[in-house]
Amino acid sequence: MKKMLIVGDLHCGHLDSITPPQYWNKYTSKMVKDLWYWYKKSLNKVGEVDLAYLGGDLIDGAGAKSGSTELISADLIEQTKIAIECINQIKTKRYKAVRGTNYHTSDQHSQMEDVIMSEFGGDILDIQEFTLDGIAIQGRHHCGSSSIPYSISGPLFKEAYLNNVEKNRDLYIRSHTHKFCQLNNGIFQALTSPCLQLSSAFGRKRCLGNNISIGMVLITVDKGRIMSIEPILYSQNESKSKLIYK
Ligand SMILES: [Fe+2]
Ligand SMILES: [Fe+2]
Repeated sequence: MKKMLIVGDLHCGHLDSITPPQYWNKYTSKMVKDLWYWYKKSLNKVGEVDLAYLGGDLIDGAGAKSGSTELISADLIEQTKIAIECINQIKTKRYKAVRGTNYHTSDQHSQMEDVIMSEFGGDILDIQEFTLDGIAIQGRHHCGSSSIPYSISGPLFKEAYLNNVEKNRDLYIRSHTHKFCQLNNGIFQALTSPCLQLSSAFGRKRCLGNNISIGMVLITVDKGRIMSIEPILYSQNESKSKLIYK
């Protein structure tokens, strides 16, 4: 039996994203602090895993569209250090990662996620193809989404279905949507991972409803069978404090 933990869309460096205590400042909200305590507690419960899968958008980037006003730091090296500290909390010896959205993770020249993964000796690609205890897995960052609740699974199904025509895999992993979704049609299974970012000005202004999912996903496989796909989700209602911006 093997365990894989999926963590994606950390957006480290954003004021409302997962942040270790040494990077807290006077703008750090109680919600962000609570998210960190929840993250640590959840990882302790999960324990050691055979593989950590990182779904991309590990840092938030320089925030060009928002004048960097939502950031702890616009320095991508500083953001990279925050992401390394967050990933370092996961108890594992093996890492696989996919690259995220360029706006967040690159300064036009360098892929900072490659730097992060080199710290862990991890493997990072645009598309990951690998097996875990006999399960064929394909991972990629991007996936379409929908603001219509009953349509959220549609783009994920399209991703998995069209890729499965070309070659059969047992599990498709996508991120980017910041919404957990899981489907199983008896031929393949697929999921979009939750994020580790509470909110953003973009989300509040442009997205309908508060329907993002925050957390991670634990997958257990055994000799060619997916035994469980368990979303471990954080409820923002657990913390009542308000977001504070510079
Ligand atoms: Fe993202
Ligand atoms: Fe993204």
